Amino acid sequence: MMPAMSKVAGERDLAALTVLGAGYVGLPTAVCLAALGHCVVCCDIDASKIESLALGVATVSEEGLQELLDDGISSGRLRFVVDSAEAVETADMVFLCLPTPQLEDGSVDVSILEAAVHRIGSRLKSGAVVVTKSTVPMGQAQKICEILRRDDVEVVSNPEFLREGHAIYDTFHPERIVVGARDPDVAERVGKLWSTTGAPLLITDPITAETIKYASNAFLAAKLSFVNEVANLCEAVGADSEGVLHGMSYDHRIGADYLNPSPGWGGPCLSKDAHALVNISKEFGYDFAMVRTAIEVNERQMDLICEKIRNSVGGVLAGRVVAVWGLTFKAGTDDLRNSPAVEITRRLAVEGAIIQAYDPSVQSQRPELSENVTVHSDRYEACRNAEVLVVLTEWEEFRSSDFDKVSSELAQPNIVDGRNALDPAILRRLAFRYVGLGRP
Ligand code: UDX
Repeated sequence: MMPAMSKVAGERDLAALTVLGAGYVGLPTAVCLAALGHCVVCCDIDASKIESLALGVATVSEEGLQELLDDGISSGRLRFVVDSAEAVETADMVFLCLPTPQLEDGSVDVSILEAAVHRIGSRLKSGAVVVTKSTVPMGQAQKICEILRRDDVEVVSNPEFLREGHAIYDTFHPERIVVGARDPDVAERVGKLWSTTGAPLLITDPITAETIKYASNAFLAAKLSFVNEVANLCEAVGADSEGVLHGMSYDHRIGADYLNPSPGWGGPCLSKDAHALVNISKEFGYDFAMVRTAIEVNERQMDLICEKIRNSVGGVLAGRVVAVWGLTFKAGTDDLRNSPAVEITRRLAVEGAIIQAYDPSVQSQRPELSENVTVHSDRYEACRNAEVLVVLTEWEEFRSSDFDKVSSELAQPNIVDGRNALDPAILRRLAFRYVGLGRP
């Protein structure tokens, strides 16, 4: 999928770029930069991943990625190599798109990123720019400078705001480009890479850029916890959460996006970044109470969903069969990392429930899932003899299911809709006992 504004950068703007990391951020970044006309080398330590990519087989499922991968390889502008210090020697800019996982105590593990910086330090050419796209704790750009000890190399923070499943679209249609650099001219150079997108370029110092990323994700997490609390309040007072949230959405200061109640928010970024922000704030002597509470509300939301499920089967989950539709952290991805659905099935399993799951993008048992979870490849089969059907991910196809068939498969006509994805009126006409989120 070539973007509408994919004007290839003018000859003089073309750069030799190296992207370290071929994951959910690195790979889309590499293919998009190649599509903009740059010469890109993408590296990863996973040799089998590089082998697939070099053969043109996408290792991440993202709309439009395969086409750009094909174009990049056939044009010769995109190459894949197993991570090596050598790969950065000719680069004008090196993008760090490496994982920064969460440690047990909520802090951020920057060891992979820092190891890469150590590896490349002496090989960077004079005048090269190291660009951090990974989400890193505030002050990391400065730490990278200290590791590099190269006065002739600049370190710049250029955080990504990509949504999984929309990474290519978001790269070509960003709402803003944030570049944090000590030298504004270097920031301009990095920002120019994305100038064809037409997005506003915000130039800041590195620590401000790093903070923008955390604050944005933590704000989104807090918004979602607020939305879930609104739905819970609606349930308590007998209001209709759909109507209330719709009413709120017309205020442009609130906005219509990100207003859907859920069994909890998750995914690899929001959760990690919210925890990290609380943790980093604490290190600096500040208690970021709103984000800390947003995390607590999210935990409680998953408990509330378990309670709805438990109540639907008469109060005890041990030995009860529960059908679950949706395992991924949101629709449109195969990613189970920090998925509320996975966490809820784990909590149900701890209480002894037997879970029969279906998810359009999960075809077999995965290590993230509890032993009590059996993955089915057919949504109706997953309902067989279950006492309740629980919807945990908002896949579009669930809405158009044959609910007569669902009813004939279930042992009891109970539905707990953790996404308010189904139509309660239709289901109640079919004699289902329907429970949603703040829906009368
Ligand atoms: C997020 C940010 O959106 C992105 O800007 C950032 O760079 C990375 O983190 P992503 O992880 O792809 O992107 O997920 P997103 O689409 O934001 O959804 C996060 C969670 O919020 C999911 O669990 C989703 O189901 C939930 N969500 C989203 C809701 O519960 N309700 C909504 O209305 C929207």
